[in-house]
Amino acid sequence: MKVRVVIIAAVSADGFISRGTGVPWDLPQDRAHFRRLTAGRWLLLGRRTFEEMTGWFREHRPLVMTRRALPSPWEGVGVAGVEEAMRRVEEGGGDELWVCGGAAVYEAAMGYADELILTEVKAHLGGGVAFPMIEEGEWEVTRREVGEPGYEWVWYERVRKGTGKGG
Ligand SMILES: NC(=O)c1ccc[n+]([C@@H]2O[C@H](COP(=O)([O-])OP(=O)(O)OC[C@H]3O[C@@H](n4cnc5c(N)ncnc54)[C@H](OP(=O)(O)O)[C@@H]3O)[C@@H](O)[C@H]2O)c1
Repeated sequence: MKVRVVIIAAVSADGFISRGTGVPWDLPQDRAHFRRLTAGRWLLLGRRTFEEMTGWFREHRPLVMTRRALPSPWEGVGVAGVEEAMRRVEEGGGDELWVCGGAAVYEAAMGYADELILTEVKAHLGGGVAFPMIEEGEWEVTRREVGEPGYEWVWYERVRKGTGKGG
């Protein structure tokens, strides 16, 4: 069975997810949307993001991408990459992996992704940690919803495989 890979992220109008540390906006309804959509799911997070969000993942099954041995006890299980995470999900009886960042993990997972759920924030950061390029022709917008003023939730479905890993 193929594991469906869903990327969920909040991205500025100029393509950034962060200025370097933490999330650069305060959007309570978007946090609730993230919690609602990810509750109970298998997640993939980078070690930095996982550490920033310590305590968030009691209702989840977090897999943490790292090149190191994880200190113990952790809420998360360490994985070396996206394929290992997909294998873990399959072995655990799951069929979806939700990729929650940061940038290194979005970059690694983009070629495997079937769906993107983006909070498109109408702010310009002017620099920082970038979200990967959404290649034209590979994705189709299937749904748009306005949350609080200043952003939209946008769902993209893959229509064509890319040439990168997993593509
Ligand atoms: N706006 C959003 O939706 C959103 C979402 C999530 C995060 N963020 C932001 O993104 C920023 C963090 O992004 P980031 O890119 O710096 O960090 P990250 O992706 O959260 O974590 C990076 C870590 O992942 C591990 N890693 C990366 N590539 C790997 C690979 N190929 N194989 C194995 N392990 C690998 C390494 O861990 P080790 O060092 O342990 O080896 C690396 O230090 C933060 O500011 C966070 O707030 C924003």
